[in-house]
Amino acid sequence: MATPLRLLLIEDFEDDALMVLRELRRGGYDVTHTRIETPEALTHALDTSTWDAIIADYALPRFDALAAFALVQRRNLDIPFLIVSGQIGEETAVAAMRAGVHDFLLKDRLSRLGPAVARELREAAVRAERRKMQEQLLLSDRLASLGLLAASVAHEINNPLSSLMANLDFALNPLEPGVALLPEQEQALRDSMQCAERIRDIIRDIKVFSRPEDKQLGTLDVHRVLDSSLRMAWNHIFHRARVVKDYAARSLVRGREAPLGQIFLNLLVNAAQAIPEGKSGTQEIRVVTRQEETGHVRVEIHDTGQGIPPELRERIFEPFFTTKPVGVGTGLGLAICRRLITEMNGELGVDSELGRGTVFHLRLPVAREESASAPPTG
Ligand SMILES: Nc1ncnc2c1ncn2[C@@H]1O[C@H](COP(=O)(O)OP(=O)(O)OP(=O)(O)O)[C@@H](O)[C@H]1O
Ligand SMILES: [Mg+2]
Repeated sequence: MATPLRLLLIEDFEDDALMVLRELRRGGYDVTHTRIETPEALTHALDTSTWDAIIADYALPRFDALAAFALVQRRNLDIPFLIVSGQIGEETAVAAMRAGVHDFLLKDRLSRLGPAVARELREAAVRAERRKMQEQLLLSDRLASLGLLAASVAHEINNPLSSLMANLDFALNPLEPGVALLPEQEQALRDSMQCAERIRDIIRDIKVFSRPEDKQLGTLDVHRVLDSSLRMAWNHIFHRARVVKDYAARSLVRGREAPLGQIFLNLLVNAAQAIPEGKSGTQEIRVVTRQEETGHVRVEIHDTGQGIPPELRERIFEPFFTTKPVGVGTGLGLAICRRLITEMNGELGVDSELGRGTVFHLRLPVAREESASAPPTG
């Protein structure tokens, strides 16, 4: 089967362009190409489309291959760039390769073109993979140190928080009945106690998320983990949708609490971000758990958001794939979710209908036949 190739051809002679295309087709490529001749057209082509390779004639009336290559480099694009030329001196060829051009071919020896393009595509793919891994490493490093920082901050807050709560409790329930509190005072103290409890919950959640990596699988109640993630995602959710819980799983599952919490949080934040703000009355995020015959617990997170176009449904799991603006999404959420769930011997998938909503579903193996706390639906 022919390999698809999106080719940008910088060439002023139609005949020479045809020759290059013929040679590539012979080399097994299904080429779609755009031919351009000027710097403006090159800039436009680079800004508006994605290219697998660029082949440039060495000298054009308004332009030359090295200037074209410099334009590509200035955009930080790593696209295989090959020069094809009628005749060249050794010096020119050396200068081009030194500048970083990937290959230099003579027009009367074009049979080398197919293999040369194949080699450059392979090498570009290796470079891209390496870049991706480096970025991922940097990111997981950053996440790990953030986790540590969060854990130590949480720890530091815990002690003063405990005395705060003890003192509030004392003020509300003095050992010896003394002067009665004014109703406003008592209400103020109760409100303070509620705030303190909220802080305690947040601290507990942070600790769950930053607990040092422990690959050991334990026994978990998905409902408890879901509730904790729902609390953490609340700020993203409440002004966009109401939450409906439909918990019917009965078994505990085998998994790891912190990563599972992270997975649910990612999915809930994604669900919220897929729903426009301000219509929370009509929009819904539904969290469903089910017991499966196969010895699994199934968790579904439904949203009534924008949906995902069919052609993107697998790509969304790729690291760094995002449709969100810079600063909103890095595109790592789902890639991390899939990796974490696989480590727990589970699965993660998606169903979606454009304009109607999306369901992310995951399955985890049951720990043993034991009853989980299935809280009432609501
Ligand atoms: N519930 C959803 N509804 C519609 N699109 C979604 C949903 N969840 C994910 N997507 C799409 O999948 C893409 C990738 O999601 P992912 O969680 O991996 O990254 P992100 O949310 O863009 O960024 P990050 O999670 O790193 O902040 C999103 O940019 C979005 O286009
Ligand atoms: Mg996300």
